[in-house]
Amino acid sequence: MRTSTIIAIDGPAASGKGTLAKRLAAHFGMAYLDTGLLYRAVARDVAAAGDALDDPASALNAASKLDAQSLDDPALRGPLAGDAASIVAKIPQVRAALLEYQRSFARADGGAVLDGRDIGTVVCPDADIKIFVTASDEARATRRHMEHESRGETIAFEKVLEDLRRRDSRDKERNIAPLEQAAGALFLDTTTLDADQAFAAALLLIEHARRRS
Ligand code: CDP
Repeated sequence: MRTSTIIAIDGPAASGKGTLAKRLAAHFGMAYLDTGLLYRAVARDVAAAGDALDDPASALNAASKLDAQSLDDPALRGPLAGDAASIVAKIPQVRAALLEYQRSFARADGGAVLDGRDIGTVVCPDADIKIFVTASDEARATRRHMEHESRGETIAFEKVLEDLRRRDSRDKERNIAPLEQAAGALFLDTTTLDADQAFAAALLLIEHARRRS
């Protein structure tokens, strides 16, 4: 990989994009940014201020003041934070305020891997490698359900599936930077793949794409 290589990975919730992005970053010795955490943190800060998640002024204020150190907060990882994130993520001013942070991260020495919903389409449209990762709704809900169970949380599978589909629709149907496959993105369906198999498949796709270019 060139030292300035950017790998953009997009896809819906629980598609395996985060796990894949982290592994590719470790494999190629590149920096890694989970951009979903930015939106999750904005939602956390709006809620902490006692404001409604769809309040543009409060959300812009939170996005402008976002402290990168606070992204390690374990509370950001849960499903409620993900749902809240998808509400602030619809606000154009929030997306604009987070753009430069993501772009400057992408220019990191040694290259970077970013994962999210709009990395290949908006944040880094010139990324060297773009991958769109997806899986069937049922496979994704099964993964999320297992994550809940491993944390000792009891929740019906149907509820997990319903929540996931609601968030998918919000992300795909919003007016700004909707979730969609970027032009030129490699397509990876992880429905029947575990994390190791998805990683191996992505490496093959990247290898083929680089030989063609
Ligand atoms: O990990 P998971 O895929 O469940 O969620 P996430 O990547 O942390 O993203 C949480 C929410 O943030 C998504 O549902 C999107 O609404 C929003 N998001 C976005 O709009 N753009 C991004 N680049 C990343 C996340």
